[in-house]
Amino acid sequence: MPKIQITAKGIKSALKKYTPYLSVAEYIWNGFDAQASEIKIDYVSNELGNLESFTISDNGYGISHEKLQEKFELLFESKKALENKLKKNQSAIHGKNGIGRLTFFCFARNAAWKTIFEKEGSNFVYDIYANAENINLYTGVSAVPRKTELPTGTEVTFTGIHSLTGFGLQEKLSDFLLKEFAWFLALNSGRNFSIIINGTPLDWESLIAEKEQLQIVHEKSQTIFNVTYVHWNEKSSNEASRYYYIDASHHEKWKEATAIKSKGQQFYHSVFIQSSYFDSFAFKKSANQENQQPLLDGTRTDSQFRFLQKSLANLLRIKRRPFLKAFAQDLASEYTQKNIIATDIHEKLAVTIQTLCEIQPRLFASQNLEQKKFLANTLNLLLQSNQLDQLTNAIHSIVELNPEEKTELEELFNDTVCNKEN
Ligand SMILES: Nc1ncnc2c1ncn2[C@@H]1O[C@H](COP(=O)(O)OP(=O)(O)OP(=O)(O)O)[C@@H](O)[C@H]1O
Ligand SMILES: [Mg+2]
Repeated sequence: MPKIQITAKGIKSALKKYTPYLSVAEYIWNGFDAQASEIKIDYVSNELGNLESFTISDNGYGISHEKLQEKFELLFESKKALENKLKKNQSAIHGKNGIGRLTFFCFARNAAWKTIFEKEGSNFVYDIYANAENINLYTGVSAVPRKTELPTGTEVTFTGIHSLTGFGLQEKLSDFLLKEFAWFLALNSGRNFSIIINGTPLDWESLIAEKEQLQIVHEKSQTIFNVTYVHWNEKSSNEASRYYYIDASHHEKWKEATAIKSKGQQFYHSVFIQSSYFDSFAFKKSANQENQQPLLDGTRTDSQFRFLQKSLANLLRIKRRPFLKAFAQDLASEYTQKNIIATDIHEKLAVTIQTLCEIQPRLFASQNLEQKKFLANTLNLLLQSNQLDQLTNAIHSIVELNPEEKTELEELFNDTVCNKEN
């Protein structure tokens, strides 16, 4: 029986942070990492809530018997980690520590993998066992894989279950998995990825607060981008707000942060952009032009890519506005409280500051008291004079105002002028 190269005690202390639900998520990730499109979680519990059976299965490529030792042995140095340097920009592979498969010990005494892999056109099946008492041991290396007609995939069965009950799973599993996987299922919805719990697919759309699908067309190059904007009800437990660039066959090519800071604003969002334009695109920013892959057609400096980025930034700016209301109100009252705006000055100034902050919060970010006073006085001068259209223009030069925002500003300013004239 081969040994994993670390003591059982060492493994357990490394695995301390895992809870049963986090562990379940690890087995699901292992399935997706193995290119599965469907993960099934099946459990049976008795009337006391005790689990009589619990399995997690996937339709991935299985665990090649020849590579078992290599895959299960390198503790803390998952093979995947080596392929995974791009993790920040690609969701394809989640695993990185080489310990996920051992986390079962936090809720079960034993784990058994039945895995089917393909070799030279035929499929083969064999089993691997591990138990919590001797977590540094596993069987399977000396097994003789048998030929099978069944499709590839892996099924992990847990026995001797403690710390997890049928009631608990029923109450909490879906919510937990939604927070972990909703973004990933959304990202791969074009490939019909699913997590099925006792026959019911996890409804990732139930975590959506708002969804909008639109097409951004770059006329000059006739490039079409199919955009899906999603604002989530809850924060993902493992994924930030990002843009995902997806090719014609619905595979993610790249992801990156959306540059919208949503601290305390609950603006948790994902933007999926699918286009055949990304089938051949050099996403990596290369410091040195010679390193650029010559066979890739698109680059970040293309006018269609820059147009896309500008359109997306504008979309998000508008979507975020309602989330900035509270922030903008706080800012306006701070200006009044700290006497940045003198109380005898036009009260419209506070409203103007609030509106501008909703439209472009960066205008007011990280300023010291002097800068705040200077900005407030300058705004006030513009408000008092009849140069308000200048202000609209100045704002328009930094952010693209949509027609409603333009009208809003114009009305705000006209109103101010009228009040003054009265
Ligand atoms: N369901 C599965 N299908 C195919 N291969 C698997 C499966 N589960 C585990 N493996 C193989 O076993 C290896 C070890 O899995 P494990 O979850 O312990 O580590 P990891 O996924 O590489 O990293 P992490 O600790 O971050 O999960 C994986 O790298 C993978 O090669
Ligand atoms: Mg893993």
